[in-house]
Amino acid sequence: MRPAFVFGTRPEIIKLAPVIRAFERRGIEPLMIHTGQHYDYEMSKIFLEELELHKIDYHLEVGSGTQAYQTGMAMIKIEEVLMKEKPDVTLVQGDTNTVLAGALASVKLKIPVAHVEAGLRSFDRTMPEEINRILADHASEVLFAPTEDAKKNLEREGIIEGVYVVGNTIVDSVLQNSEIAEKKSRILEKLGLKPKEYALLTAHRAENTDSEENLKKLVEIITSLPITVVYPVHPRTEKRLKASGLWEKLKAKEHVILTKPLGYLDFLKLQKNAKIVLTDSGGIQEESIILNVPCLTLRYNTERPETIKAGGNVLVGLEKDRVLHYVEKLLNDEEFYRRMANAKNPFGDGKAGERIAEILLDLYEKGKLRVKS
Ligand code: UD1
Ligand code: UDP
Repeated sequence: MRPAFVFGTRPEIIKLAPVIRAFERRGIEPLMIHTGQHYDYEMSKIFLEELELHKIDYHLEVGSGTQAYQTGMAMIKIEEVLMKEKPDVTLVQGDTNTVLAGALASVKLKIPVAHVEAGLRSFDRTMPEEINRILADHASEVLFAPTEDAKKNLEREGIIEGVYVVGNTIVDSVLQNSEIAEKKSRILEKLGLKPKEYALLTAHRAENTDSEENLKKLVEIITSLPITVVYPVHPRTEKRLKASGLWEKLKAKEHVILTKPLGYLDFLKLQKNAKIVLTDSGGIQEESIILNVPCLTLRYNTERPETIKAGGNVLVGLEKDRVLHYVEKLLNDEEFYRRMANAKNPFGDGKAGERIAEILLDLYEKGKLRVKS
């Protein structure tokens, strides 16, 4: 069997690496297609290097653009490669424009699509990611749901066949890399930080960065935090902060440490040793509960409700009073802190990559991997 992997952004590289490895362990060399949605060294290549994904067969250099431009360009270029290479299955992961492009290009060529991290729903159709998830799921033949909740979301939309609950490959990635990170990374020394004496923050979601009003709220929150805060800034947010003059305001604050986006090992080390995580990222909500660090999510909804139910994550939106209330509580109420930090990881045992490879190989050998007519 020859699987094709289509990916293009930071989280896709991190979350697909365990699946790629699982195929390689079985003697299968997948076809690797990078759309180039992310292209800065620290948004893409650093992860390929750290996770030792040295062989990229096609680099499509799609780059940035409007939603339709980026998705359309990626579709056209992916289609060309798939027509030439004719893989047996196309794997996509998550909810980016690369995922939608990969899924649509593939299914229309009658090459079955396997969607890793299927069934997530924020129930907020204003998010580009929600549209991508729904459409990718409906174009997929095999759906790897990380949890039973995700499977139920698919059932509600009539997707019953081809669904497998396997856990989330982020657990595999964290388990495979956090010890290496602990040993190799010198990021705490570099930034002059002590374990559990700082908060780690990230924000890049369109709804938080595209509106100047929300960007102002975000900056207001960061500048008011009563703890040192490390903020590795996504290029999208850096551009917006600089354009609106807010970058200088953040930089001027002594308790705020702004950095470039970090490599995975440095980021994992920072996350593991943080007192609190504040984020609007999907993957970081997941990693925090795996690493036993309380997470405050700077959004009003989440497609990872399992983290909230488990007690490791709270939706705080961009409401400064609510954010500060929870930060103070975490800093001053030991029992409350312990409860959040000890929430149980709902995303599985770190063997999702192995399961995905096994299931796909089994379907292929039984002749069941084909687009249904
Ligand atoms: C994308 C995904 C989002 C995911 C995130 C992971 C979509 C719709 N969104 O958001 O779900 O959480 O990736 O980080 O697919 N830019 C650079 N250098 C880069 C990449 C981006 O400067 O290497 C800047 C460009 O100005 C670009 C902007 O960031 O226009 C946004 O990039 P884009 O890939 O469109 O979306 P993300 O915000 O990264
Ligand atoms: N990450 C990283 N360096 C950073 C910020 C994030 O390595 O500076 C990792 C993080 O550990 C997680 C993933 O990138 O695994 C999350 O990516 P992002 O927040 O960009 O996307 P999302 O998960 O929201 O789609």
